[in-house]
Amino acid sequence: MKHTIFIIVSLLFFTINSITCKLDNEDDELARIIRPITDEKTQQQAALNVIRRLIHERADNVAIKVNFKLPVNYFKIRKTNNSEMLRIEASSGVAATKAFHYYLKHFCGVHISWDGHQLKTLEQLDEFPAVNIEVEASSKIVYYQNVCTHSYSYSFWKFEQWREHIDFIALSGITLTLAPFQEDVWTEIYREYGMTQDEIDEHLAGVGFFAWQRMGNIRGWGGKLSKNFIEFASNLQQQIITALNELGISVAIQAFDGHLPIHFKTIFPNASFSSTTQWNDFPPQYCCPLFIEPIDPLFREIGEKFLRAMIQRYGTNHIYFSDPFNEVQPRISDANYLRNVSLSIYSGMQAVDSNAIWLLQGWFLVNNPDFWNDEITKAFLTAVPHNKLLILDLQSEQHPQYNRTSSFYGQKFIWCMLHNFGGTLGMHGSIRLMNVEIPRAANMENSSMIGVGITPEGIHQNYVVYEFALEKAWDYQEINHKKWIKNYARNRYGLVSHETTSIEHAWLLLLKSVYAFEGLQNIRGKYVYCRRPSLRIQVWRWYDEKLVIKALGKFLAINESDLLNDHLYERDLVDLTRQLLQIQAEFIYTTLVETFKKKDLRKFAIASEMFLELLRDLDSLLATHDDFLLGKFLEDAKAMALDDDERKQLEFNARNQITLWGPDGQILDYATKQWNGIVMDYYLPRWTLFIQQLNISLQTNIAFNQSKFQQDVFNQVEYPFNENNAKFYPSKANGNVVNKAKELFHKWKRITFN
Ligand SMILES: *[C@@H]1O[C@H](CO)[C@@H](O)[C@H](O)[C@H]1NC(C)=O
Ligand SMILES: *[C@@H]1O[C@H](CO)[C@@H](O)[C@H](O)[C@H]1NC(C)=O
Ligand SMILES: *[C@@H]1O[C@H](CO)[C@@H](O)[C@H](O)[C@H]1NC(C)=O
Ligand SMILES: *[C@@H]1O[C@H](CO)[C@@H](O)[C@H](O)[C@H]1NC(C)=O
Ligand SMILES: *[C@@H]1O[C@H](CO)[C@@H](O)[C@H](O)[C@H]1NC(C)=O
Ligand SMILES: *[C@@H]1O[C@H](CO)[C@@H](O)[C@H](O)[C@H]1NC(C)=O
Ligand SMILES: *[C@@H]1O[C@H](CO)[C@@H](O)[C@H](O)[C@H]1NC(C)=O
Ligand SMILES: *[C@@H]1O[C@H](CO)[C@@H](O)[C@H](O)[C@H]1NC(C)=O
Repeated sequence: MKHTIFIIVSLLFFTINSITCKLDNEDDELARIIRPITDEKTQQQAALNVIRRLIHERADNVAIKVNFKLPVNYFKIRKTNNSEMLRIEASSGVAATKAFHYYLKHFCGVHISWDGHQLKTLEQLDEFPAVNIEVEASSKIVYYQNVCTHSYSYSFWKFEQWREHIDFIALSGITLTLAPFQEDVWTEIYREYGMTQDEIDEHLAGVGFFAWQRMGNIRGWGGKLSKNFIEFASNLQQQIITALNELGISVAIQAFDGHLPIHFKTIFPNASFSSTTQWNDFPPQYCCPLFIEPIDPLFREIGEKFLRAMIQRYGTNHIYFSDPFNEVQPRISDANYLRNVSLSIYSGMQAVDSNAIWLLQGWFLVNNPDFWNDEITKAFLTAVPHNKLLILDLQSEQHPQYNRTSSFYGQKFIWCMLHNFGGTLGMHGSIRLMNVEIPRAANMENSSMIGVGITPEGIHQNYVVYEFALEKAWDYQEINHKKWIKNYARNRYGLVSHETTSIEHAWLLLLKSVYAFEGLQNIRGKYVYCRRPSLRIQVWRWYDEKLVIKALGKFLAINESDLLNDHLYERDLVDLTRQLLQIQAEFIYTTLVETFKKKDLRKFAIASEMFLELLRDLDSLLATHDDFLLGKFLEDAKAMALDDDERKQLEFNARNQITLWGPDGQILDYATKQWNGIVMDYYLPRWTLFIQQLNISLQTNIAFNQSKFQQDVFNQVEYPFNENNAKFYPSKANGNVVNKAKELFHKWKRITFN
């Protein structure tokens, strides 16, 4: 009897082991298929170049060996005595740069981020400290980018900015990302099908709006593209892909997803087209491009032509993104139909590249859950052969889909933190939740999770949550997140004292407040003062604002001389003071509305003046740091132009994206930015006009008319701001951050209306 039990137990054990083993091999296989073909020497050299750009001649003391036979995403760092070099052995160039970052962070107190780096603590060390560690990543694939990230964050970048960002990507251990462009290849394909240049110009969107045109949401808005830009983008893409591939980082390129210019209806009168539904009220001139049925033979024809041309120009890492239904609903809700659709998309890729892997954003499941019921979701996902589809569970931190789809019915997925919409500012995040949910997702029964990624629509905000997610990507294990944030604080500013400093306290307070969001409410970054004024704005907060105000007090209580002129300290100080103003504006707004409704003229006057004063203060605060300037964004946009007309067009793209977003405010303020310049010339005049009209209503006893106000604010403020191309905004900071923050903290930490 005993004996039998023993056999059963060991059989079970064996089975479990062999299942795990089989899955691991499968995951490795997928990771290896999409690996760039650059050789070990190239990756070694590229990794060393990243390190050299970071620490200059000290890179002479670092030796790197890339060895493809090592496990996927693996590194070893050794240095046993002072006379030795720091030796890194890694499975790829990016694993080596990640190793070096890991070492810098954990052994030298260094901080790397997209806001800038803190390397003072390394400079204080004469020698690289001894080390002997070995790490194998939990993730087989570490992913970065949303299809919108390009449009919101790098529309106006040149290679110089990309170089820096690619170094960041490499140091963060990201192994898969997206190629930014495709308009050059589309232009050729459209020409081949007989479209005229005017027709192409009518279709392709402007530089600030590519993402939505590609997804079939809009067409032509903000265009037409110059020949100069198309060539520039094509070369830039070449450089970006080469740089990433040299580091062993894979790049997914676009595959056809069915969206076509309306002119195709004339070219192919008999093909099965449908018009995509109107997106966010874009007028006919700019909306509703065609969608060709993926089961129509023409889909295959165009898809193969396009993908062949993309591969010919940019090479391939065998991974292709295609999102036919991102915010577009399929024609019919039928399992057979949707099975045919995904099979057709996949086999089109496979016909061009027999190793093709399809990369799919799972956003459609979040966006349209009523349509995508279990049956059709399963049909759509499982039509693709096993291990040939890679799904990005796009917002796992808030709307996970893996738990409602039995881990995507066995198809591989990446746990992604989306976190940000539109590149808006405002502190928020879910650190504790990620700490717990990532290991839980990886360990759930039959989990098909293959990695962790970050999928923000825009970057350059709330870096702390991205660093946390990217660290979790390499090690799923739950950690002490309080300890983690204290280390984060020490490294970010290079604090050397052994005592817990007031800055660490400040970050603990933020961890307990703004970064402790765990709910289902959508956070979109449109805080009160960023919005078009109205009496009906809902004020809502998930945290105790007193903790944030206290954190700012602690931030200011440090011994300044340590951090004088420190880029990251000053950046965070501006951001935290901005957060204080954002919070107080909500209280003032509430009072403004109440006193208006009660016709309390005296208090209404106080609240009004306070609100406008706060906006002026906000603008002058933001002016003190390079990271919060409208001027920088506009100058980058203008710098891409060859002539005056293009300069105006690009400036319009930039201004429109962050304000009206569409010809007349279709997704008004979706990508708003709390930057110096916008506050003064867009937020402030809007609220001034609003208060004026409320005041007139109080004085005359005629009801305030919101629709009239909307017309007026559009005509007098919003539209003129979009059209303006005469005003110059500085792209360099001006003023003393610490003094300004102190002044505003004392002025605004407590408000009363008496
Ligand atoms: C330092 O390490 C190297 C390589 O392991 C070894 O050859 C050398 O003898 C060591 N030197 C000292 C002083 O321990
Ligand atoms: C479209 O179909 C019609 C009717 O079947 C046929 O007469 C016509 O030649 C077709 N046109 C094209 C371009 O295939
Ligand atoms: C799906 O494809 C099969 C095989 O090509 C075809 O017989 C069937 O009619 C298609 N079903 C739908 C709903 O498109
Ligand atoms: C999946 O997880 C989310 C977030 O924790 C939760 O709201 C949702 O109810 C879960 N869905 C299912 C089907 O378990
Ligand atoms: C996990 O997979 C096994 C084997 O396919 C199956 O029997 C079991 O029901 C699955 N469990 C869940 C929770 O899906
Ligand atoms: C601040 O730091 C400087 C330099 O480390 C030190 O000389 C000074 O005494 C400190 N001041 C206070 C108030 O702690
Ligand atoms: C409201 O209008 C009155 C009369 O013109 C003016 O005196 C007062 O300053 C205004 N108040 C505000 C808050 O604009
Ligand atoms: C409010 O303003 C709109 C637009 O100016 C106008 O059409 C409407 O008649 C006004 N409503 C009232 C009640 O005055």
